[in-house]
Amino acid sequence: MSATATVARLWDVSLEVIARAQTPAGGLLAALDYPTYRYVWVRDGSFIAEAARVAGRRDLAAAFHAFVARSVLDLARGREPGSLTLPARFEADGRPDESGWPNFQLDGYGLWLWALGRQAQGQGLGPTERLAARTAAAYLARRWPDPCFDPWEEGGATRPTATLAASVAGLHAAHGLLGPGPWSEALEAARADLRAVGSREGRLTKDVDGDAGVDAATLWAIAPLEVLSADDPVATGTLAAVERQLGAPAVHRHLGDTYYGGGAWPLLSALWGLGALRLGDPGRAAAALGWIRAAATNEGYLPEQTAEGLLDPASLAPWEAERGPVATPLVWSHAMFILLAHALGVVSPQAPERPDA
Ligand code: BGC
Repeated sequence: MSATATVARLWDVSLEVIARAQTPAGGLLAALDYPTYRYVWVRDGSFIAEAARVAGRRDLAAAFHAFVARSVLDLARGREPGSLTLPARFEADGRPDESGWPNFQLDGYGLWLWALGRQAQGQGLGPTERLAARTAAAYLARRWPDPCFDPWEEGGATRPTATLAASVAGLHAAHGLLGPGPWSEALEAARADLRAVGSREGRLTKDVDGDAGVDAATLWAIAPLEVLSADDPVATGTLAAVERQLGAPAVHRHLGDTYYGGGAWPLLSALWGLGALRLGDPGRAAAALGWIRAAATNEGYLPEQTAEGLLDPASLAPWEAERGPVATPLVWSHAMFILLAHALGVVSPQAPERPDA
C-alpha cells in the first residue's frame, strides 16, 4: 500500500475506533479492549472530540460535550462552589470514577473548555453546555494555581507546566464563550505565570516551580492549544529540548518514565509534528506522520506506546504481567493522528458534516 493509502486507511480506522469508543451516554472511553482504561478521561476525551470535529463528526463531539456538561452540573448541584472538586475521569454512564486513582488533575477542564470553544465557533452553545462551561470556568479560575497530578497522573504535590498551559487555553476559551468574568483575570495571571516559566530556561519545564526537566506534554502549548505564539523563542526552545532529550520522531514522555518500560508514544510524536508544523517545518511533521503510520498494527490500531528505545527495559515485564499488553487501540493516539494528518492536509474529511446530535 502506498504511504498515502496507508494514511487514508489509518484515518478511516481512527474514526471507527473513536465511534466505537463512544458510550450510549456520549462519553468517550480511553481505550477499546483494555479493561484498566474503561473510563472516560476528560483530558483524552477533549482531544478525541476535537479530532472528531475536524474530521466532520461534530455530532460525536457534541454528544461528548453534552456528557461532560451533564456530569459537571450533576456534581455541582446543591454544592457551595468553593467546595467543588471535579474528577479526572468518569464512568461510562457519567458517574465520577471513585476507584482511587489520582483524580485531582486540572488539565482536563482547561482542555474541555478549549475543545468546547472550538466546537461552539459559529454556532454558539446550548443552555446545558453554557451553564456547565460557567461552572468549569469558575472552578478553573479558582483552582488553576493549585498543585495537582500531572497529565500522566503522576506527582500530585507540584504544579505541572502542561497543566498550566491547558488552564491558559481553557480560561481563554471561557472568556470567548462567556464574556468577561473571573476567568478573564485568572487568564491574565496564568499567562504571566507561563511567561515566567518560559523565561527561566528559555523553554517550558516539567513543573512550574519544581522539576526543571523536559516533559513532552508541554508540547501541547505550541499546538494544538496555541498558547505560545509561533514566533516565541520559548516555543522553539521547548520543541528543541524535547527532540534532544526525549527523541523524535519517536517521542518519550519524560526521562523518568518507567511505565511499560518507558517507550515512545504515537500521540506525542503527533504533538511534536503539530508543533514543528506550527513553527514552519512541514518536513518534521511528515516524519512524525510516517513514524506513527509504522507504529500501527496490521488492523490499523495505534497503541499507547511502542517498545522503541525503552528508557527502562526491566520495567516492561512487570507492567505486562499486571495489566496485559500495552493499551491498543488507545483512542487519543488515534485522535492526535487525525489532528496531525488534518493539519498537514494529507487527508480531508470525506464525510459531509453531520448535524449535531
Ligand atoms: C496516561 C494518561 C491518560 C490515561 C488514559 C494514562 O496512562 O498517563 O495521560 O489520560 O492513561 O489514556
